[in-house]
Amino acid sequence: MTVRTVIAGTGSFLPEKILTNADLEKMVDTSDEWIVSRSGIRERRVAAPEHATSDLATAAARNALEMAGVAAEDLDLIIVATLSPDHFFPSTAGLVQRNLGAFKAAAFDLEAACTGFIYALSIADAFIKTRTYENILIMGAEVLTRFIDWEDRSTCVLFGDGAGAAVLRGEEGGERGIISTHLHCDGRLAELLYAPGGVSRIPPTHETIDKKLNTVKMQGNEVFKVAVTKLREVVEEVLAENGLTEKDIDFLVPHQANLRIIQATAKRLKLPMEKVVVTVDRHGNTSAASVPLALDEAVRTGRIKSGDRVLLEAFGGGLTWGAALIRW
Ligand code: ACO
Repeated sequence: MTVRTVIAGTGSFLPEKILTNADLEKMVDTSDEWIVSRSGIRERRVAAPEHATSDLATAAARNALEMAGVAAEDLDLIIVATLSPDHFFPSTAGLVQRNLGAFKAAAFDLEAACTGFIYALSIADAFIKTRTYENILIMGAEVLTRFIDWEDRSTCVLFGDGAGAAVLRGEEGGERGIISTHLHCDGRLAELLYAPGGVSRIPPTHETIDKKLNTVKMQGNEVFKVAVTKLREVVEEVLAENGLTEKDIDFLVPHQANLRIIQATAKRLKLPMEKVVVTVDRHGNTSAASVPLALDEAVRTGRIKSGDRVLLEAFGGGLTWGAALIRW
C-alpha cells in the first residue's frame, strides 16, 4: 500500500518585540505610506537579544509536536531551513534536537533562502514515501534582523524574525497528504539577492564587517519581476502535472514578501483573497519562516478545512522558488 505524507501538526513562534513603520520612520528616510503601498508591510517582529534562531525554532517545534501528538523521542529526522543559523557550524537543527531531547533523530540544516520550507517539505516527503523515516520535524526559522543594514532603507523595512514548524508523518490509504512538490533554482541570478561577505568568498575582517558586506543586499525591483514570473510558472506546473485547473485549488499559503506579489499569484489562480492567507502586514518577510508561520495561522484559525487542496509557494535568494500541493 502506498504511503502519503501528512502534516500532523503545525506550530509557530513570534518574538514579542514589534517594530512598526512609525519606528522605522525615525531610523531611516522612509514613510509608512511608502512601505505599505510598495510591500503591504505594517510591522515586523524582532528577536530578543538573548535569543538565536534555534530558540525560536524550538518554541515553534514544541507547538507543532503538541498538535501532532508526537513525542520528541519518536522523531526520526529534524530539518531546519534557515539562512540565519545560530552558528556557521554546528547546525541549528542539532541544537533544536538537543533542546527537544529528540536524541533518536538525525538533524541537518537546509539553505534555500525564502524557499527553504518548501525544499524541506519535499525532502521529508521523499524520506517518508520511501519508508526511510516515519516522523519528521521540519522548520523554517530566522533571526534576519541580525543580518540587516539598518541604514539601508531599501532592505531594512522589509524583514522580520520568527519561526514556523510542521510535524510530518506517513499515512496509508485515504486521500489526504502531500500530492506533489516542485523545486527550482536559477544560480545565474544569485547576486540579485545575497549577503556578499562574512563567509568563504569574502571572509569576516574588520574591513568587510565595517562595510556591512555580511548584510542582505537586494535589487528589489529586479527580484520582484522574476518572482511574479516564476511563481506564475510554478503554479501552472502544479496544475499541469496534476491534471488540475484553477477551480481545484481551495486555499493559497504564499511566501510573505510583498502583498503585490501575493495578489498576482492569487489572481493567476482566480482565487479571492479570502482564500489566501496574508501575514506580511504583521510579520514582514521572515524568509524561510514565512510559509510555515502563515500555514500555522491558517490551520489554527480554522481557515483551512479538511479535504481542501492547499497550495504552498515561495520565492527567494538563490534565486530559488517552489510549490507544494497538499490535500488537507
Ligand atoms: N522608503 C522610501 N523610499 C524607498 C525605500 C523606502 N524604504 N526603499 C526604496 N525607496 C525608493 C528607491 O530609492 C527608489 O527611488 P528612486 O526611484 O528615486 O531611485 C524608489 O523608492 C523605488 O524603488 P524600487 O526598489 O523600484 O521599489 P519597488 O516598487 O520595486 O518596491 C520592494 C521595492 C518592496 C523591495 C519590491 O521590489 C519587492 O518586494 N521586491 C521583491 C522582494 C522579494 O520577493 N524578495 C524575495 C524574498 S527575500 C529572501 O529570499 C531573503
